[in-house]
Amino acid sequence: MKILILHGPNLNLLGTREPEIYGSMTLTDINEKLIALGKELGVEVTYLQSNHEGALIDALHEARAWADGVVFNPGGYTHTSVALRDAVSAIQIPVVEVHLSNVYAREEFRHISMISAVCVGKIAGFGWRSYALGLRALVELLRSR
Ligand code: DQA
Repeated sequence: MKILILHGPNLNLLGTREPEIYGSMTLTDINEKLIALGKELGVEVTYLQSNHEGALIDALHEARAWADGVVFNPGGYTHTSVALRDAVSAIQIPVVEVHLSNVYAREEFRHISMISAVCVGKIAGFGWRSYALGLRALVELLRSR
């Protein structure tokens, strides 16, 4: 089983970016944790980060050809991007939306997600563990199919 972990804009700055909200772990730290978890679960984990909406869309399209599912933190595009929603909807493999922060405890514009309705599920508010929980849930879901 192959899973893509897809990180959206500004997540490359984790560790130094508003650590009181996003924690002190870097993106590399998070990716390492997810690779290790993938090994434990017996799945192959590949990760990618981009600050560009089109590159994220391309990665989703490409994932259709090789991945069984995607764990996706769309960052700020969560709240704005119809194009990313359409890409998630188009690829026909399960996508789990994850957020480090509890977006519902923050500004109102973060309460809206363009992406949620086309995802199999969503996990928010557990810091880096949102990704780990998303990965576990996705693997269980895929194995139950
Ligand atoms: C985020 C939440 C978004 O609102 C924000 O724009 C981000 C990170 C999170 O992981 O908590 O960039 O997706």
